[in-house]
Amino acid sequence: MAVLLTGGAGYIGSHTAVELISDGRSIVIADNFSNSSPGVIDRIEKITGRRPKVYDIDVCSPEALEKVFSENEIDSVVHFAGFKAVGESVAKPLMYYENNLYATINLLKTMKRHGTRRIVFSSSATVYGNPKTVPIREDADRYCTNPYGWTKYMSEQILTDAANADPELSVVLLRYFNPIGAHKSGLIGDDPSGIPNNLLPYITQVAVGRREFLGVFGNDYNTHDGTGVRDYIHVVDLAKGHLKAIDYAMNNSGVLAVNLGTGIGYSVLDIVKAFESATGLHIPYRIQQRRSGDIDACFADPAAALEKLGWKASLGIEEMCASAWNWQKNNPYGYGEKK
Ligand code: WQD
Repeated sequence: MAVLLTGGAGYIGSHTAVELISDGRSIVIADNFSNSSPGVIDRIEKITGRRPKVYDIDVCSPEALEKVFSENEIDSVVHFAGFKAVGESVAKPLMYYENNLYATINLLKTMKRHGTRRIVFSSSATVYGNPKTVPIREDADRYCTNPYGWTKYMSEQILTDAANADPELSVVLLRYFNPIGAHKSGLIGDDPSGIPNNLLPYITQVAVGRREFLGVFGNDYNTHDGTGVRDYIHVVDLAKGHLKAIDYAMNNSGVLAVNLGTGIGYSVLDIVKAFESATGLHIPYRIQQRRSGDIDACFADPAAALEKLGWKASLGIEEMCASAWNWQKNNPYGYGEKK
């Protein structure tokens, strides 16, 4: 029996693949490498000593997904595959709705045909929009501010309705806060295409000399130092949360939504300071205008994850920064050319 990782060659997918293999579990990866590099598979093998079975497919393709399920005994799925750039989703909403929602629908239909009843979904704190209060609990109001966020919200609803119609289906919705860092080997990490949207890869590209300085998007937010506050979580802690979520799904039915965060909020300038302290490097920055759509503060109430999954984050902000730098300094241009 195997765990299918759709989008398993991506940043979070590859880290989850390493933790699953290291835990002795059999996995299959389905990825079209549209936003990841085939070289990741070699790195997963180098870290774990085992090469996962990989299908280079579009999860939206009924025929391709049918082949995966026909050739493997899949007893659970972790669904990472999807477009995830907020800005791109605003420019190309139909591409995002078509890809991200149809991938979820096609996956559920294929799972049903093959009697696979357990799914963990890669959701996001973005479904909370601009929270009225922090820390954020899972029963907080949800409202999205961009099409990418709405695809996560709508996929959660599709999964919830599917579970309501099929009592045997077990769904765990994992709402990630801000994943950063990299596996301690420095062999896998966050490798965004083009100019990084996210804070940490931008900082590591400044550190490695690919960018001149960090632009800090606004210092007039309602936070302790005026810069945006977020809940940064080590990607390895996040990956381990998926193993707990799979175990929960295997032993329960219905729908469980869980925040995966540390419960600690750090500002942009806190992160710059933590990165400099962890690496001994200087990160030049300039205060710039706010980025459209950004919110003041967002961090998790992590209680449900501990209560329901028996999981909590354990790695601190300096380890997150040090591991991110270890990845970037060993891979100044990431995995190199994407497919
Ligand atoms: C963090 C903070 C920025 C870059 C996004 C997505 C979310 C999720 C995680 C997928 C903010 C500031 C950033 C820079 C900066 N992705 N910043 N200069 O926006 O919290 O969340 O990634 O699920 O859906 O929205 O993360 O890393 O982009 O920004 O000052 O060059 O860093 O303003 O305060 P964000 P981020």
